[in-house]
Amino acid sequence: MKYRKLGPYQASAISYGNMPLAIEGRPDRATAISVIHDVLDAGVTHIDTAWAYYPSGDTPQYGEELAAEALRTWSGDQSRVTIATKVGHFRNFTDGRPTWGIDDDPDHLKERAHESARALGVDTIDLLYSHRPSPDVPYEKVIGALADLIDEEVASVVGISNANPDQIRLAHRILGDRLVAVQNQFSPGFRSSEPEIEVTGELGLAFVAWSPLGGYRAALDQALFEPFQKIADARSVSRAQVILAWELTKGPHVIPIPGSHRSATILDSLRATDLELTEEELAVLG
Ligand SMILES: NC(=O)c1ccc[n+]([C@@H]2O[C@H](COP(=O)([O-])OP(=O)(O)OC[C@H]3O[C@@H](n4cnc5c(N)ncnc54)[C@H](OP(=O)(O)O)[C@@H]3O)[C@@H](O)[C@H]2O)c1
Repeated sequence: MKYRKLGPYQASAISYGNMPLAIEGRPDRATAISVIHDVLDAGVTHIDTAWAYYPSGDTPQYGEELAAEALRTWSGDQSRVTIATKVGHFRNFTDGRPTWGIDDDPDHLKERAHESARALGVDTIDLLYSHRPSPDVPYEKVIGALADLIDEEVASVVGISNANPDQIRLAHRILGDRLVAVQNQFSPGFRSSEPEIEVTGELGLAFVAWSPLGGYRAALDQALFEPFQKIADARSVSRAQVILAWELTKGPHVIPIPGSHRSATILDSLRATDLELTEEELAVLG
């Protein structure tokens, strides 16, 4: 495994997001714990979760509890592992379908962060994100709540998620080096966050790439993944490895966090840290 800077932490260059273990379609708890143990055994030192990782209509914080239980019951060096969580989203139903609601009321963000610390079994959360900006709350207030949570030692350092370049610059102006990461979507099917990769590189922040393989549902436009599949076939590796290896070349501050429901897929993905793509291959992939 190779490692990259995530604020004060050394994060595995490819880290793990536990959303598929926690929301609709999740495996049973014992399987989920064993997936996280396998990921940790493989050298992953950064697990991403969220207050809102639970199935719609169920009890919140399942993902956080899972991450905490897995770490507590793991036989390796727990002090090397960073657990990052996010507050500001909750699960809902829209037209009978499970959806994600936003509640960025600063007081509620603070309450959720205290709940996250309790579920994670810590006094101070390693890395706490605002999950998503709300159109209803000025972003300065959200960032102010994060600053208060650091002052109150509820969070050690913070990040923001689903933020645009202006929001990243605003958060950086207010928080300075207490802001360490931006977590945005990025994959062959979602390249529009390249400006945020650039801004985070410029400001010395980690860019944590969510849904780096295109998400757990079928990709909207499979054609965008075909060049990756061709290289995978030629190199006899998985398409996931080619995608993740390509993402790692986007900057030394980029940390993809693939998810998975099972060990086989995530253990395959982690091998991407050993895959060096050639200049010719990178020219094709863009
Ligand atoms: N900040 C945000 O707003 C936000 C939003 C969404 C997600 N996230 C974070 O990002 C993480 C990853 O996103 P995601 O889970 O939606 O999508 P993803 O990582 O792009 O894709 C996950 C899917 O990829 C499959 N997969 C993984 N490795 C594979 C391999 N080597 N070969 C074939 N298939 C492979 C998994 O299959 P199996 O299921 O068969 O294992 C799973 O279905 C989440 O867990 C969460 O932590 C954050």
